[in-house]
Amino acid sequence: MRVPLIAGNWKMNKTEGEAISLVRSLMQGMRSFSGVEVLICPPFTALSQLHKLLVSSPIMLGAQNISDQESGAYTGEVSGRMAADFCSHVILGHSERRAYYSEGEALINRKIKAARRSGLVPVLCVGESLPERDSGRAAAVISGQLLGALENVLLTDPGEIIIAYEPVWAIGTGRSADPQEISDLISTVIRPVLSGLWGEESSQGIRVLYGGSVNPINARGFFSQPEIDGALVGGASLDAGKFLSIIEKTQ
Ligand code: PGA
Repeated sequence: MRVPLIAGNWKMNKTEGEAISLVRSLMQGMRSFSGVEVLICPPFTALSQLHKLLVSSPIMLGAQNISDQESGAYTGEVSGRMAADFCSHVILGHSERRAYYSEGEALINRKIKAARRSGLVPVLCVGESLPERDSGRAAAVISGQLLGALENVLLTDPGEIIIAYEPVWAIGTGRSADPQEISDLISTVIRPVLSGLWGEESSQGIRVLYGGSVNPINARGFFSQPEIDGALVGGASLDAGKFLSIIEKTQ
């Protein structure tokens, strides 16, 4: 009942011209897929052109961040409403924003609410660091991140939010997590927290993605787990062949 989603997080990569050529390659290879949704999250600077290019394509566009504020004197920021001109989704709470820009739960919570007000579907990233995992605190860390980021967030439909479980030690390291372990963590930690917030039925409808060094070789192992509803792909989403090959593994 949960349609798999493959999302690409391009991070700070691709000029406008490079983004257009990557998307043209993706569009050529996308024709044959069914039963899967595809989202790409390029830098803000490429969104306007890609929006035009993708107008009759099933590929959806997302932002990688938005401001928690609506408008005004916030130099360098982009509001949810501005992003919503081009995007349907926005990545929030990514571990790189938590680590390099000191984003904590309170700010992420305000950004989630700003996204919802703008009609954007947040892709909320959560995940433990290696020391947290090694000291047996993964479940507590992930629960805390979910509860903090989602405090007083109202949901009328499970499609209004997506969770991406991304263990920090697996991001960009080539070291992916074990699919069975991830599946267990989703069913014993993540879904129970979502159920506590919005009820059992909603929690079963919310998509939970895995992210962290997903590539064409390990992707099928993740997608064969019923609790894993797709992937948030970083590095491999910058290569059309690799990204298409990951999407194909859902078929
Ligand atoms: P990666 O990044 O696939 O390069 O590990 C994943 C992410 O940061 O979302």
